[in-house]
Amino acid sequence: MSLSVIILAAGKGTRMRSNLPKVLHPIAHQSMVEHVIDSARSVNSDNIYVVYGFGGELLQSRLSGDDLTYVEQAEQLGTGHAVDMASPFLTDDEDVLVLYGDVPLTKVSTIEKLIAAKQDNGMALLTVTLANPSGYGRIMRANGSVVGIVEQKDASAEQLLITECNTGILLANGADLKRWLGNLSNENAQGEYYLTDIIAMAHGEGKSITTAHPDSEIEVEGANNRVQLAALERAYQLRKAEALMIAGASLRDPSRIDIRGNVSVGSEVQIDVNCIFEGQVSLGDDVSIGANCIIINSQIGQGATIKPNSIIENAIIGEQCSAGPFARIRPGSVMHTNSHVGNFVEMKNTTMGEGAKAGHLTYLGDAEIGKKVNIGAGTITCNYDGVNKSKTIIGDGAFIGSNASLVAPVTIGKMATTGAGSTINKDVEDNALAVARAKQRNLQGWSRPSKK
Ligand code: UD1
Ligand code: CA
Repeated sequence: MSLSVIILAAGKGTRMRSNLPKVLHPIAHQSMVEHVIDSARSVNSDNIYVVYGFGGELLQSRLSGDDLTYVEQAEQLGTGHAVDMASPFLTDDEDVLVLYGDVPLTKVSTIEKLIAAKQDNGMALLTVTLANPSGYGRIMRANGSVVGIVEQKDASAEQLLITECNTGILLANGADLKRWLGNLSNENAQGEYYLTDIIAMAHGEGKSITTAHPDSEIEVEGANNRVQLAALERAYQLRKAEALMIAGASLRDPSRIDIRGNVSVGSEVQIDVNCIFEGQVSLGDDVSIGANCIIINSQIGQGATIKPNSIIENAIIGEQCSAGPFARIRPGSVMHTNSHVGNFVEMKNTTMGEGAKAGHLTYLGDAEIGKKVNIGAGTITCNYDGVNKSKTIIGDGAFIGSNASLVAPVTIGKMATTGAGSTINKDVEDNALAVARAKQRNLQGWSRPSKK
């Protein structure tokens, strides 16, 4: 059977106090509505209808996918009216799932439970029992079966005691849904077309109304302001952290990690506090990440150690390498096995050969560094002449003395040596020593200037 998903995203979100439509506010790496779209895709939806009200252009420019159809709800006349905006697109024999653009943490497994709960000639509701049900629509049951939903503002004192609440998420047949939506009225306390009124209609037609439930309340919570958004963010992060721990990683403190994308881990991975991971990151077996590291779209090989305060972006760190503390490894950099960059070393578009080392205070840009090269402290590859970028090539086993300027394009031969403090702008042959600095003069008995 085909499945269409309607995502309600028309609310203005006044309480966000933002120019951005509410559903575009982010949880981790993506907007709330993108999380919901991902969930819809994960249950193999055929079409996704995004019902928008404000900021439609912005919304459409931020979202992508052939399966998305944007449906405007010019005036917010209620959740039933919002869903009805998508009615012209729905076919009679499909299932229709209603989700909410500001409820981003519903698990796919929960939506699957809802789909499984629906009987052929019925509809299914996701409900949750809350200690404090205030504000929610209440699920009315007779002899155990759902017979309707009453909104907080329309409820009697007795109905307000009901703790089983409507999450808003439901699943119904297309023909049923269109028929029911067409019969809604707005004669209620809020003067709105309530989606929830279709439940009594379904019951009146003798349809079976079955329910499913989330594993936790957070799955069905929305964000109306930035405080609630931050709470969802923390819950999302804890979920990601727990998944990493279940996968075998040790986190020094699961409440102090931020994952804005996907991290895959091998065994015996250790992650210290306050690390941020963005995009796609993979950490091999026995990798150790120190405190305060930021790692973006990178692979860290087996046994590598990233020491505190390092930033690694679009880079590949080989097996048994070490980097940091305070290393900055920028896009296009590759560290081969057992190479090392130490504190205050910046690399950009640079390859470090196997066993090569740059221990301290160095800039390596557009460089190809051979095996077992030693780069002295204070080495700078001068890769930019103000217009063009050029390459520095350093052969296997070369030794670059401290405080060298390597003016690219330049090639240092294998096993070559450059003297400390040299400015090297001519190629150096294999095995040669290049010294390029003023000769030292010692003036004997030199008397320093005295104060006048
Ligand atoms: C709704 C439910 C209530 C449920 C609660 C769960 C109805 C009538 N009530 O109440 O039973 O317990 O959600 O949070 O459905 N929206 C539109 N267009 C509209 C109106 C709303 O897109 O015209 C969107 C809002 O942006 C929001 C969602 O629908 O994302 C829910 O709307 P809201 O007004 O917050 O409904 P509640 O009063 O919370
Ligand atoms: Ca609400």
